[in-house]
Amino acid sequence: MLVSVTEMMQKAKAGHYAVGQFNINNLEWTKAVLLTAQEQNSPVILGVSEGAGKYMTGFKTVAAMVKAMIEELNITVPVALHLDHGTYEGAKKCIEAGFSSIMFDGSHYPIDENVEKTKELVALAHSKGISVEAEVGSIGGEEDGVVGAGECADPKECKMIADLGVDILAAGIGNIHGVYPANWAGLNFDVLAAVQEATPGMPLVLHGGTGIPDDMIKKAINLGVCKINVNTECQLSFAAATRKYIEEGKDQQGKGFDPRKLLAPGFEAIKETVKEKMELFGSVGKA
Ligand code: 13P
Repeated sequence: MLVSVTEMMQKAKAGHYAVGQFNINNLEWTKAVLLTAQEQNSPVILGVSEGAGKYMTGFKTVAAMVKAMIEELNITVPVALHLDHGTYEGAKKCIEAGFSSIMFDGSHYPIDENVEKTKELVALAHSKGISVEAEVGSIGGEEDGVVGAGECADPKECKMIADLGVDILAAGIGNIHGVYPANWAGLNFDVLAAVQEATPGMPLVLHGGTGIPDDMIKKAINLGVCKINVNTECQLSFAAATRKYIEEGKDQQGKGFDPRKLLAPGFEAIKETVKEKMELFGSVGKA
């Protein structure tokens, strides 16, 4: 069932758990995430960066693939197809292409411009039943060409954006895309608490879910995080399992080179990572 994130976020807020956003890159990724969500009876959000959208030949291809897969795999749990760190133009394209949710990342603009563009996209998306995530402060590191300095969000600016009627809000709290460096200072829970205080009831989004220790994840959920994004961790699991298969020479045994065999261990590894995250986030059985 393809839905916006609105209802799943309200339920997560009320139930004190978070729904995982897992970024997809291709058919194997999409199938692995959807099947795991169904097996775990968990709501799920499929994240698509602009780079991944381009890689999959465009947002229309992605939307068509996801919709057909939901039907043909008999996926009955709530699934949102969500643009990740979208530009203004990319957000409009996804609204046209049939995504059920978009993120407009205007965090690199001056706040007034972020407000103006977010406001316009909220009106457009909501007129079609599509949910909107906005961002204040920035996520450190790099993801598919989107680079952030990692500055923490200003709660006053968060309120300005929340007041526009966005459905979910990503606030920088010291989180970073990719693997965390050894000297990482950790999540800034004071900022997270101040952001939620300035935006009562707003479901907050935690980007950079890869490698955040379990206790920090749980504390963030307690302080109002309802959506957690995971990308790199599935990529690392997939790569490690594929490497093992090849290093063991399995691609050279019989028809081990068949892509359906070659990609199978990586596919299973993504499923395992997604399952672990759903258990940690508390979304199992919440569909
Ligand atoms: P990671 O790649 O660090 O898991 O971050 C994912 C993310 O925040 C997607 O927007």
